[in-house]
Amino acid sequence: MRPSRILSLVSFAISVVALPTASSTDVLRRAPFLPATIVNPSALQDLQVNISAYTFPANYGSASFNQVRPLYPSVVGFTGLSLKYADANGTELAQEDTVAVGNDDIFDMASLTKLFTTILAMQQLERGVFGLDDKVGDHLPGFSVGGKDNVTVKMLFTHTAGFDADPDPGLWYGYATFTERREAILDTPVINKPGSTYLYSDLSFMSMQLLLEQVTSLPLDDLLRQELTGPLNMTSTFFNRGNVEADREVLIAKKIASTEYQIEVLGGVEPQRRQPVWGTVHDENAWGTDGVSGHAGLYSNAVDLGVFCQMILNNGTYGGTRVLQPATVDLIFTDFNTAFPGNAHGLGFELDQNYWSGAMRSLQTAGHTGYTGTSLAIDRPSNTFWVLLTNRVHPNRNWSNINVARENMGYFIAKALGRL
Ligand SMILES: *[C@@H]1O[C@H](CO)[C@@H](O)[C@H](O)[C@H]1NC(C)=O
Ligand SMILES: *[C@@H]1O[C@H](CO)[C@@H](O)[C@H](O)[C@H]1NC(C)=O
Ligand SMILES: *[C@@H]1O[C@H](CO)[C@@H](O)[C@H](O)[C@H]1NC(C)=O
Ligand SMILES: *[C@@H]1O[C@H](CO)[C@@H](O)[C@H](O)[C@H]1NC(C)=O
Ligand SMILES: *[C@@H]1O[C@H](CO)[C@@H](O)[C@H](O)[C@H]1NC(C)=O
Ligand SMILES: *[C@@H]1O[C@H](CO)[C@@H](O)[C@H](O)[C@H]1NC(C)=O
Repeated sequence: MRPSRILSLVSFAISVVALPTASSTDVLRRAPFLPATIVNPSALQDLQVNISAYTFPANYGSASFNQVRPLYPSVVGFTGLSLKYADANGTELAQEDTVAVGNDDIFDMASLTKLFTTILAMQQLERGVFGLDDKVGDHLPGFSVGGKDNVTVKMLFTHTAGFDADPDPGLWYGYATFTERREAILDTPVINKPGSTYLYSDLSFMSMQLLLEQVTSLPLDDLLRQELTGPLNMTSTFFNRGNVEADREVLIAKKIASTEYQIEVLGGVEPQRRQPVWGTVHDENAWGTDGVSGHAGLYSNAVDLGVFCQMILNNGTYGGTRVLQPATVDLIFTDFNTAFPGNAHGLGFELDQNYWSGAMRSLQTAGHTGYTGTSLAIDRPSNTFWVLLTNRVHPNRNWSNINVARENMGYFIAKALGRL
């Protein structure tokens, strides 16, 4: 069942999806869709104007690296083209070859994947399969090498295990087989003493995947379907196992947004596949592990992310189905990184960050961003969440930094809630 009534703010994109024939502006005016916490509804229309404006080419200063460019070609729920360009330099496609974004378009989540892996790992915590302070190596054979003997489960959740940011060499070119790539993750040494340093690392969640697969005997995508997306009927949330390439007509019918002309931007070391990357995962390391990884690889849309966020605001339940206990959900909103000022972190979720929540930032505001142009934020005190889905890496990852749009969302939502 799709959510028909939205209890919290839900990025309005969700409200739009519930009424596909109405324009988003119409929906914003519909009082029944606005929760009582919205004391200043016009701020939501200002938000729409503001976030839509960045689809027009302009010099947005450092956000567009001082070039005349849009920050993103499309934003879900509002406006734009999910396929717009013919090459990495921004040659525009003929109009009939472009694709308009739809309210329920499916985007490559990039690092929002980590939040789904987080929920799956929290379920195992809750069931006593492992504890937060357990050593990962006690549950995952082969992990306790390279200075990792003392890495705990908690350190994986909070990016304090001591890993470098990414595997080097990249999994997709450094190794010939999936078995070797899995071994490479297990073998990766730490560069800092476990627990001594905060350093955001994809290796934290690659390791979490291996831990989960070990203790459940299920591949991550099957575990996700069994424990989360299945029970919550999130039918638009999936991994593309096997990096299956689909034809243009199929991609359009499935409403999947395009991403980058990777080979043009970064050269022949990039995965060899049809360009632009479209329907197979943008993240090269996730591509190298068959499209399924704990750190990236997931596809989803605004409605399903809305269900995900509302489940967390509901303290673990949605539509009568419980996937987490309330006390476990509290761990999302608990700062485990007090030793690292500026890097507050609950399990899996960042806390108190300006760059994705702007004026809404607080220790009770949990969220994350994804490299492809996604972000999600959940504010417990106001019972509000919002998602921002853009395909900012189309046609070229080096075109923009969209944090300004993420911060503006926080600003206008704070206004709508009467906080500013
Ligand atoms: C969006 O709103 C912010 C905050 O008011 C403002 O600084 C910025 O210039 C606006 N951006 C656009 C493109 O209108
Ligand atoms: C894109 O621009 C670069 C630098 O100007 C140039 O070398 C390259 O050939 C261009 N690519 C295309 C497809 O036009
Ligand atoms: C793990 O911690 C113990 C106890 O503090 C220490 O003696 C040992 O050297 C540590 N191992 C590694 C590989 O850091
Ligand atoms: C969820 O838990 C928090 C913290 O205990 C509480 O403040 C909030 O009211 C709960 N929300 C719901 C919907 O039960
Ligand atoms: C999922 O769909 C099934 C079958 O339609 C329904 O019984 C169940 O309540 C739904 N669950 C949620 C969380 O919406
Ligand atoms: C694009 O970004 C990549 C990685 O961020 C960098 O290695 C590359 O040099 C950049 N290319 C250009 C033309 O800016």
